[in-house]
Amino acid sequence: MSDQFKALILNQDGESFTREIKSIEKNFLKHGDVTVKVEYSGLNYKDALILKNGARLVKEFPHIPGIDFSGVVEESNHDNFKPGDEIILTGWRVGEIYFGGYSQYAKVNGDFLVKKPKGLSLKQSMIMGTAGFTALQCSLTTKTTREELLLGQKVQNVIVSGASGGVGSISVMVLNKLGCDVTAVTGKDSNADYLKSIGAKSVINTKELTKDARPLDKGLWDGAVDTVGGKVLENILSQTKDGGIVAACGNTADIKLNTTVMPFIIRGVKLWGINSVTASIKRRQFLWNEAEKLIDFEILEKSIKEINLDEVINIYPKMLKGETSGRYIINLKK
Ligand SMILES: NC(=O)c1ccc[n+]([C@@H]2O[C@H](COP(=O)([O-])OP(=O)(O)OC[C@H]3O[C@@H](n4cnc5c(N)ncnc54)[C@H](OP(=O)(O)O)[C@@H]3O)[C@@H](O)[C@H]2O)c1
Repeated sequence: MSDQFKALILNQDGESFTREIKSIEKNFLKHGDVTVKVEYSGLNYKDALILKNGARLVKEFPHIPGIDFSGVVEESNHDNFKPGDEIILTGWRVGEIYFGGYSQYAKVNGDFLVKKPKGLSLKQSMIMGTAGFTALQCSLTTKTTREELLLGQKVQNVIVSGASGGVGSISVMVLNKLGCDVTAVTGKDSNADYLKSIGAKSVINTKELTKDARPLDKGLWDGAVDTVGGKVLENILSQTKDGGIVAACGNTADIKLNTTVMPFIIRGVKLWGINSVTASIKRRQFLWNEAEKLIDFEILEKSIKEINLDEVINIYPKMLKGETSGRYIINLKK
């Protein structure tokens, strides 16, 4: 292991908040029992919030952000991991209360790690990252949970909001792969062709879902993935057909949800919250194994922007303004 390595360090001193790429030493890493040579990390919406001001998620400074990463085990005091193992880390509040992946080396609790499936590369696992992992959770809930677990009717027409984002775009792709007709909701009309190229059958503007929602609107969707919350989610709930599952994971538009009981008691609509952060290791391993079958990396790789650690600092403000599309991955080998 190198004595000195690069990391992005956040610091807060009174009103001043700083983000700097620094050279640090191994003893700077203070949590966990497995040291990983990080190859890739992701830039997620939550990372952008943390990069801005800690987002009240970071409790101690200096801090290393980065809520997901993939890499190779360098040293381990955990029974399940040995040097050379290729691993994936998402969630568990790494990058928030524990140091994260914006560092060439990371030290984490081995209980948080998933062994990378053979069919995926370390790069592909971060092309997915937290966003892809969450999209798989959302899409399988919307489609498979309703059809197989709840023995419901076929899920055909589905809607995905925040469709150009990380979770949204991968949900569009996965639901299309699962045989659904996907309507993608985006605020960016210019992304319509891109969304169709990754599997959307039709594309509508977010504005169409920001009116005050009626308690029950015309039923249009057998299921939904919502990444934005607020009025968009309110409208999706009132447009969901009998027994449909609305998998809700995000709040890029609003944390508020002003709805009525009508979709739930008249149509049996299910609002299914998705939490990728503390999903069990068993569930994680299952979902990562599904990735190979459900994600078309050849298509996804075309829309991925690979950046280095320095570039993160310029890009995160654009993500917070909703000006970015698709997923950014950070190559820590650079
Ligand atoms: N629950 C969990 O475990 C979990 C896990 C991962 C992510 N999340 C959450 O899921 C959400 C999406 O994450 P992400 O990584 O996909 O983020 P992202 O890549 O930044 O994408 C978010 C998308 O939301 C849309 N959007 C942004 N601002 C909006 C607004 N004011 N009104 C309506 N739409 C807006 C944009 O889509 P268009 O450009 O297409 O309009 C944007 O591309 C975030 O809230 C994130 O925190 C939750």
